[in-house]
Amino acid sequence: NRKVIIDTDPGLDDAVAILFALASGRFDVIGLTTVAGNIGLDRTTANAGGLLSVMGRSDIPVISGAATALMRNNIDAIVVHGDDGLRGVQLPAPASPHQTDAVSWLAKTLVAEPSGSIDVLALGPVTNIARLIDEHPEAAGRIGHLIVMGGAILEPGNAGPASEFNFASDPEATALVLHSDIRTTIVPLDVTRRVRADRAYVEALRGNIAGDTAASLLTAYLLDDKTSRPLHDPCVMLLALAPELFGIELYRLSVNLSDDSDAGGLTISVSGSPVSVAMQVDVPGVLKLLASGFR
Ligand code: BDR
Ligand code: CA
Repeated sequence: NRKVIIDTDPGLDDAVAILFALASGRFDVIGLTTVAGNIGLDRTTANAGGLLSVMGRSDIPVISGAATALMRNNIDAIVVHGDDGLRGVQLPAPASPHQTDAVSWLAKTLVAEPSGSIDVLALGPVTNIARLIDEHPEAAGRIGHLIVMGGAILEPGNAGPASEFNFASDPEATALVLHSDIRTTIVPLDVTRRVRADRAYVEALRGNIAGDTAASLLTAYLLDDKTSRPLHDPCVMLLALAPELFGIELYRLSVNLSDDSDAGGLTISVSGSPVSVAMQVDVPGVLKLLASGFR
């Protein structure tokens, strides 16, 4: 199993991704670092700790990170995730207190392990990763593979007309990350919108504590009237496990750093270093892999 750090803002789909990572037994999760995103940092941090409690994995540390974007006011996604980040799904309290200063913890942890041996799975705004690159470039350079849920290439956005929520939340951080020389793959809406859970899929996850909790979270995420919902963040875990189920393109990307409604939006450009972008996905294949993690 690869060692992974999950950087996250749970968040319903983050929560399902984390449960999958723990339940599948296919990752060695060495820490959860949290960031403000779907909701404020206090909530995302408490939710991360609650998920570890559910899974009896309070041996894994939670380390809180950035409460604000690098240069902008926060946006949030309370309309999707509710004002507790989990639409009222109750989790047990975190069993152990969280640590603080995710950026220093990331640096220390990356330096303590062999270079390239830790992957970072980023499910929220990339503020912590950008600060790591800025403040501890040498440690950041030791990341094996950074896989980020974010962006919209040919698809319309979900924050602005062409911008996706995680990247719109911190455009400056996004630019820093995409233009760094860390081996990076992004999983944009072009893929994640195709990987959808409907009610039958959700019910079939039930059967153990991880599956039951994932099903409750996804039922809340389905809202009252939606027949299916996109599994954005779990796609990062799925790509980490089974890259062969995705079609990857190499793009040079520039990030909209203006103040308009598409800040954080991506355009394909001619300069800069190429980034791997998941553009195609074997939908039945990844849905099957996700469900198998809860068996
Ligand atoms: C991303 O935004 C958040 O609301 C989700 O958790 C996901 O990380 C999708 O655009
Ligand atoms: Ca997220």
